Amino acid sequence: MRKPPAIWRVTFVFIKQNRKMEPTNKIALVTGGSRGLGKNMALSLAKKGINVILTYNSKQDEALAVVAEIEKTGVKAAALKLDTGDIKSFDSFFIQVAGILKNTFNTSNFDFLINNAGIGVNASFAETKEEDFDLLFNIHFKGVFFLSQKALPLINDGGRIINLSSGLARFCMPGYSAYGAMKGAIEVLTRYMAKELGARNIAVNVVAPGAIETDFGGGVVRDNQHVNDHIAGITALGRVGLPDDIGGVVSFLCTEDARWINAQRIEVSGGVNL
Ligand SMILES: NC(=O)c1ccc[n+]([C@@H]2O[C@H](COP(=O)([O-])OP(=O)(O)OC[C@H]3O[C@@H](n4cnc5c(N)ncnc54)[C@H](OP(=O)(O)O)[C@@H]3O)[C@@H](O)[C@H]2O)c1
Repeated sequence: MRKPPAIWRVTFVFIKQNRKMEPTNKIALVTGGSRGLGKNMALSLAKKGINVILTYNSKQDEALAVVAEIEKTGVKAAALKLDTGDIKSFDSFFIQVAGILKNTFNTSNFDFLINNAGIGVNASFAETKEEDFDLLFNIHFKGVFFLSQKALPLINDGGRIINLSSGLARFCMPGYSAYGAMKGAIEVLTRYMAKELGARNIAVNVVAPGAIETDFGGGVVRDNQHVNDHIAGITALGRVGLPDDIGGVVSFLCTEDARWINAQRIEVSGGVNL
C-alpha cells in the first residue's frame, strides 16, 4: 500500500498529540479544589476525562479559575462553597450538589469523593489551644466523617472515596501532635469505611503526602528555605514534594486500573524519614 503524503502524516501526528482526552461520564467531588493539592487533583482528574465539582472555602476567584482551566480540557466542572468544618451546613451543601448534578451533568449521582480540604496549625503539644484542636478536629476528622456519610446516597455503587492523610501520621515532627493525630484517625476511619462500603463496591483509600510546596501552614515548606532544605535532606529522593507529585496518584485511584486497591494507605512522599 502506498504511504500517505508527508503532510497528512504530520497532520495526523499533530491531531493525535493534541487530542483531548475523551470525556467519561464519571464525576468527582474534590473538597478544597481551589488551591494546592486539591487544584492539582482536580486538573489531573479532568485530564483523565473525569468531570469535576470542586469546593472552596474562601477563595472563590481561584476556584472559578480552576473551573475555567478544567473546562479547557473538554470536561465539565463546577465550584461550590463549602466549609468542611461546619457540619451543620452539609445537608444544604448536598442539596446544592444535587442541583448541580441535575442541571450541569444531567444525572443524580457522582462517582468519586476526594476529602482533601484542610489547614495546618503548628503548635507544640504543651501549647495547643482547645479552639485550635477543635478547628482541626472539625475540618480534618469530624467533617470528613459526616461529609462522607451524607454523600453516600449520591455516590454511585462502584465509586471511590479517597481521604487525605499525611506523612505526619507515620512519623512525628514537633508542632503537629493534634494535626498528626487527626490524620491518624482518618487512616483508621478509611479502613472502617472500606470494610462497610465494600458491600456497595465502593473502594476507600487514604493518600498520605509528605511535605509539599503549597500555601499549607502559611506556605512554610515552599517559602522557608531552612525547612525546605531540612525536608529534602531527610527524603530519599532528595527534595520536597510538589503538587504535581500528588494529583496524578489521586486521579489514578479513580481509574479502572486501580479497581482492586482498597483500604490502603498510600504514602506519596519521595521516601521521607525512612
Ligand atoms: N501541603 C502539604 O505539605 C501536605 C502534606 C500532607 C498532607 N496535606 C494535606 O493535603 C490537603 C490539602 O493541603 P494543601 O497543601 O493543598 O493546602 P492549601 O494549599 O492550603 O489548600 C487548602 C485547600 O483547602 C481549602 N480549605 C481550607 N480550609 C477549609 C475549610 N474549613 N473548609 C473547606 N475547605 C477548606 C482551601 O480553600 P480556599 O482556597 O477557599 O481557602 C484550599 O482549597 C490537606 O488535607 C492537608 O492536610 C498537605
